[in-house]
Amino acid sequence: MSVLVETKPAARRPLGVLAALPEELGDLIAAMRENGGMRTVTHGRRDYHVGSVHGVPCVVTLARIGKVAAAATVSALIHAFDVEAIVFAGVAGGVGRAVRIGDIVVSDALLQHDLDASPLFPRYEVPLLGVSRFNADPSLAARLADACERFVAEEGAMLAARFGTQLPRVHRGLVISGDRFVASAAEVEALRDALPDALAVEMEGAAIAQVCYEYGVPCAVVRTISDTADAHAAASFETFLSEIAGTYSAGILSRFLRDYAVT
Ligand code: ADE
Repeated sequence: MSVLVETKPAARRPLGVLAALPEELGDLIAAMRENGGMRTVTHGRRDYHVGSVHGVPCVVTLARIGKVAAAATVSALIHAFDVEAIVFAGVAGGVGRAVRIGDIVVSDALLQHDLDASPLFPRYEVPLLGVSRFNADPSLAARLADACERFVAEEGAMLAARFGTQLPRVHRGLVISGDRFVASAAEVEALRDALPDALAVEMEGAAIAQVCYEYGVPCAVVRTISDTADAHAAASFETFLSEIAGTYSAGILSRFLRDYAVT
C-alpha cells in the first residue's frame, strides 16, 4: 500500500541583489516596499531588505565601497540569507578604448587588478586558489545582457537626449576591480597596457566573484560607465551617480527581474 504524503512546493530561494551605493540600486528598494511584505534585517552594519520585487523573491542590500566591504556583504547573503545567486549593479570607469560614458558593461570575467603576491604567485592570481579570472555565471550574464539590450532599445534614445550622452552600447567582457578609484590618464593607460582586454574598472566586482566561486554560487555583474578613469573621473562620477545611475539600474534590473521571475 502506498501512502500519499501531501507536500508544499519548496519555496524558491531568494536572489541576492546588491550595489555599492544607494544611487546604484535605482528604485529597487522602493519597488520592493511598494510590493508589500518587505522586512529589513540589520546584520554586520548593513540593512538587508527581504521580500519580493518584479515577481522574484530577493534580498536587496548595499555593500558600500571596496573589495572587503563587497566580500563581507556577499558572504552574509550566502550564509545568513541562503541566496541562490547574486547580481551586482553599479557604475564603473571605462578602460576599453571603445567604452564610452553611458555605455553598459556586462562582465563575463572579473579580476583583481591590484592583487600582486609575485614572485610567490603569478601576478593577479589569488594565492592558494590558483585563479586570477573569475567567470560570471554564463546564463545569468546572458540574461543580464539581454535586459540591457532591451533597456537600450526601449529607452536608449530618451537617455541620450536627456543626459546629452551618445546612444548607449552594451559590451561584454573583462571587468577589473581594485581598492583604488582610478582617476588619472597615466593610471588608466597602465591598466590598459597590463590588461588589454579590460573593459571597465571598479572596486567590488572581482571580490564578489571570488566569494561566489569559493561557495559555488552563480553571480553576474553589470556596470554603467560613469567616467573614463582619467583626470575628469571624480567630477564625471559624481554627476553620473547623482543624476543618471539610478535610471539605468532601475531600467536594467526591472527587465532582468521580470524575465528571471518566469525562468
Ligand atoms: N567606479 C566608477 N568609476 C571608477 C573609477 N574611475 N575607478 C574605480 N572605480 C570606479
